[in-house]
Amino acid sequence: MSITTKRILLPAALILLSTPAWADDPAQPFGFGTTPTADELARFSSPLPDGRGLPAGSGSVGDGKVVYEEQCQACHGQNLEGGIGDRLIGGRGTLVNDDATKKPIKTVESYWPYATTLFDYIKRSMPFTAPDSLSNDQVYAVTAYVLSEAKIVPADATLDAKTLAAVQMPNRDGFIPDPRPDIFPSVADSPHQELKLIANPE
Ligand code: HEC
Repeated sequence: MSITTKRILLPAALILLSTPAWADDPAQPFGFGTTPTADELARFSSPLPDGRGLPAGSGSVGDGKVVYEEQCQACHGQNLEGGIGDRLIGGRGTLVNDDATKKPIKTVESYWPYATTLFDYIKRSMPFTAPDSLSNDQVYAVTAYVLSEAKIVPADATLDAKTLAAVQMPNRDGFIPDPRPDIFPSVADSPHQELKLIANPE
């Protein structure tokens, strides 16, 4: 090894061995991210199919139509038929069929097993360009509108934590339960146990 190489390698080794300042801070072990504020945590929700974890609030199909027209229609279409965004309704019964020429049509209506997932998805990620910008009431309302257009809830429905969790989705039983309880604990054993059960407050 030449003298020149040694001169370069030694400082390089010293840089590698020295610990960066942030590694000493237990609140930031990876050197990025911030601790969520109480306000951020209060706005966070992670609902389960039985309604645990759903926030307070409610919204009607009528209010949801207004939210949809203003915030969703441009991408999901006037009749929820899709466009830039996915088609949201229709396709019921197309997932399992014996006709190779008939494509399965996967939508909220035909595929999603739980209505609570729809609330969760919209709240976290829609509208696409401004996720988490809707109030909980608006999310309940637009969820009700989508479910009403899918003929899953009546046109005069109002949804809240309790009524949303009670909605029976058409493809609810179209899934094979995962037979590995060690990997996927049952809903009853999930870490959400401590969450207040808004849907069935006993
Ligand atoms: C700027 C366009 C845009 C707007 C506005 C928008 N979406 Fe979306 N949406 C998308 C796109 C793109 C996807 C697909 C995202 C993906 O697959 O990662 C999507 C996916 C979805 C899905 C999941 C569909 C599925 O079957 O996987 C739902 C539900 C949904 N949007 C509802 C809404 C609602 C409700 C609103 C209004 C509050 C809204 N979106 C506004 C573009 C949009």
